[in-house]
Amino acid sequence: EIYKDSGEACRAVAQEIASLIRIKQTKGEIAVLGLATGSTPTRLYGELVRMHKEEGLSFRNVVTFNLDEYYPMNPDALQSYVRFMNEYLFDHIDIDKHNIHIPDGTIDIKDVSRFCFEYERKIAEVGGLDLQILGIGRTGHIGFNEPGSPKDSVTRMITLDHLTRVDAASDFFGEENVPRTAITMGVGTILKSRRIILMAWGEGKAKIIKTTVEGQITDSVPATFLQTHHNATIVLDEAASAEL
Ligand code: GLP
Repeated sequence: EIYKDSGEACRAVAQEIASLIRIKQTKGEIAVLGLATGSTPTRLYGELVRMHKEEGLSFRNVVTFNLDEYYPMNPDALQSYVRFMNEYLFDHIDIDKHNIHIPDGTIDIKDVSRFCFEYERKIAEVGGLDLQILGIGRTGHIGFNEPGSPKDSVTRMITLDHLTRVDAASDFFGEENVPRTAITMGVGTILKSRRIILMAWGEGKAKIIKTTVEGQITDSVPATFLQTHHNATIVLDEAASAEL
């Protein structure tokens, strides 16, 4: 789906999320959302906050799982995804804090694999993800599933690509400060979501979007695995769609 600009696109995606939440509410059920960080979803979260404040959209029945977090990472650090989510969404809505899940960048290295296993278990326990929001990195990563990530990969610790660390350098005031590892949901975790929406804005994403949509399915570009999903939509502004 191609929109004139990211504002219009985010309003459409927010509408879909809101109707999912409301339908679940009328049935007395929870809505399980997979959430992303980065500059791409900030306007989407802004729109959801607006709908909460102005239209009474409630998040009491919403359970969230974030895709990823740098490792190691202190939740109070400027670059932490915990901080990001609080700032852009969670601090402004009525979600129960116990319903929020974000990979923990503070756990001891020896406990990481157990943590990842538990993360998968918690997603399964609530019935799986109803809707996963994604951005895309220039390496074709979704979450932090860098090139080489298999289609059936699960939540785990990964090594960040050089290009990803270059792209994150300004957030960390220099590439040397960007962590070398991260914890991310796997490609398989993402593909199990019943609905997937990947969003991308601007000409900087046009090339990787062309590869994602039109390229061969390959673990060299993990986002191409979305081609195999029965209910995935790629939402773009005009600039990001320029090479299609
Ligand atoms: C990071 C995140 C991804 C995100 C990507 C793109 O790598 N872990 O989930 O999709 O950045 O970021 P941006 O939206 O700022 O372009």
